[in-house]
Amino acid sequence: MKRKGIVLAGGTGSRLFPLTLSVSKQLLPIFDKPLIYYPLSVLILAGIQEVLFITTPDSAESFRNLLGDGSRLGMSFEYAVQTEPRGLADAYKIGRKFLNGSPSVLILGDNIFFGHDFQTHLARAYARKGASIFASLVKDPERFGVVQVDERGKALSVVEKPSKPLSRWAITGLYFMDERAPDFAVDVKPSARGEIEIVSILERYLAEDELSTEMLHRGFAWLDAGTHESLQQASDFVKTLQDRQGLLVCSPEEIAYRMKLISLDQLSRLASDLKQSSYGQSLQAIVQQETGSHHG
Ligand code: DAU
Repeated sequence: MKRKGIVLAGGTGSRLFPLTLSVSKQLLPIFDKPLIYYPLSVLILAGIQEVLFITTPDSAESFRNLLGDGSRLGMSFEYAVQTEPRGLADAYKIGRKFLNGSPSVLILGDNIFFGHDFQTHLARAYARKGASIFASLVKDPERFGVVQVDERGKALSVVEKPSKPLSRWAITGLYFMDERAPDFAVDVKPSARGEIEIVSILERYLAEDELSTEMLHRGFAWLDAGTHESLQQASDFVKTLQDRQGLLVCSPEEIAYRMKLISLDQLSRLASDLKQSSYGQSLQAIVQQETGSHHG
C-alpha cells in the first residue's frame, strides 16, 4: 500500500516572537522560499503523492493560499487544524481519517534536510516494515529526542530530551510508520511536559523490535528553524549552497518534475508564473537545461 504524508505545521512559534505573532513559523522565509517548502520537498523525494498539512486554525487559510490542492505539483493536498499544540503524536490522531489504514511518513514543518544520498535513506525507510527514524549527530542532545544504537545501527532506546543522554544521536523530525501508528497514538498518555510524545509511539515499535534507524552521517545537514539564530543560519546555509552550485535547495517544483509527477511543460508554466523572482528564474534555467538535454 502507498504511503501517505503528513506535515505537522502547528505550534505557537513562541521562540520566534514577534516574528510569529501574526505569521505561522512554517511560512517564514528560509532565504528564497517559505520554510514549509523544505519538508514538503522531502516528502516528494520520498515518493509521497498525498499529503495532509496540519496547521493552527489561524494560519489554515494562508497555507491553502500558498499550497492549494497540490494539483500544480501533480499531487493531492488536504488540510486539517490542530486547535492546540498537544504534542507530536496528535498528528496521528488528527490524521487517522486521512490515512485510512495506509502506512505513513510524518515530517515536522520546521525541519530541513539536505545532503548527498538522502534519497537512498528515504527509499530504504519507505520499503521497510514497522517504523523508521532518522538520527543525526548533535552537540546538545539533551534538547532533542535521543536514540541509542548498537554497532549494527539497531535502536536500543529512545528518550525525549534526556538529562543524561546515552548518545549524541538526535531523533530528527521525520518518521516512517506502518498502519498501526494511529492506534498506538490513541494509547499515549501526556508526559511530564503535558504533551503526547512521538517517542511514546516509537517505544511501542521498539518493544516489538520493529524500530529501525537511518544514520545521517557527517556531511549531512539537518537544521531546524526554531529560534532567530537558527532561522538566520538556515537562510545563510541555503543561500551559500545555491550561490555556489547554481542549484536550488529543496524546490518542490523541481523535485516534482524530477520525480515525474509533472511534465517539463508543466514545470515551465510554474517557472513562468514566478519569473519576476530569482527563484522563478532558477526554475526557468532548469527548464532550459532540460530542454537542451532532451534535444541534444
Ligand atoms: O526537531 C526534532 C525534535 O522535535 C525531536 O528530536 C523530538 O524528539 C521531538 O519531540 C520534537 O522536539 P521539539 O521540542 O523540538 O518539538 P516542538 O515542540 O518544538 O515541536 C516541533 C514542531 O512541531 C514545531 O514546529 C511546532 C510543531 N508542533 C509541535 C507540537 C508539540 C505542532 O504543530 N503541534 C504540536 O502539538
